[in-house]
Amino acid sequence: MSGVRYPAGWRVDLLTKSHNRKTFQSGQEQVDSWLKRSALQSQMKHLSSTKVLLDEESRIIGYYTLASSQVDFSDLPIDVAKSLPKRQLPVAVLAWLGVDSTAQGRGIGSRLLANALRDCHEASQTFAFIAVILDCVDAPAKAFYQRFDFAELPGYPMRLYLPFKLLEKLANN
Ligand SMILES: CC(C)(COP(=O)(O)OP(=O)(O)OC[C@H]1O[C@@H](n2cnc3c(N)ncnc32)[C@H](O)[C@@H]1OP(=O)(O)O)[C@@H](O)C(=O)NCCC(=O)NCCS
Repeated sequence: MSGVRYPAGWRVDLLTKSHNRKTFQSGQEQVDSWLKRSALQSQMKHLSSTKVLLDEESRIIGYYTLASSQVDFSDLPIDVAKSLPKRQLPVAVLAWLGVDSTAQGRGIGSRLLANALRDCHEASQTFAFIAVILDCVDAPAKAFYQRFDFAELPGYPMRLYLPFKLLEKLANN
């Protein structure tokens, strides 16, 4: 997972108002709308942070948004919860991820996901959490994440999690 590679001349930046968000289209309305209307405001309120993948002409090719949250111990699978205190527990949240439809199917989504998980792992050295969780916007998105070891949270069919142990394993690959 270390050192995610993109095509030459592409770069990953923290979202700022100088980035042109108008042209981004992933084919999923909620994913597009978040980037266009909410991501920057949410970042300015310190609720989440969004990174954009830019091509050589600074066009947004993809993005992801990370945040933090808590899950209740009782919502975790028994094997994950068994050694943990019975209370609300900190988690990292992969809130959004999208790739422009012109660039889909070329491994960009996988690399952005690896980038997001690398950020989570780095952050965990300072702010600990027990898992990365995400809510899938639809069934195809769920299928995408399940390819990368995310598992369903019992009782929440569209909520997936990656336990910290697996995140660490990925980070050390
Ligand atoms: C889901 C999404 C991020 C994938 O990005 P991408 O750049 O096309 O993905 P990749 O090219 O890295 O594909 C990685 C693997 O996942 C598979 N995959 C990609 N999209 C998939 C989907 N919708 N359903 C099932 N599998 C999918 C690919 O076939 C590929 O498998 P392979 O390695 O065996 O070829 C992109 O399609 C997208 O932005 N969709 C709309 C927004 C969205 O749903 N975001 C996720 C929820 S917030």
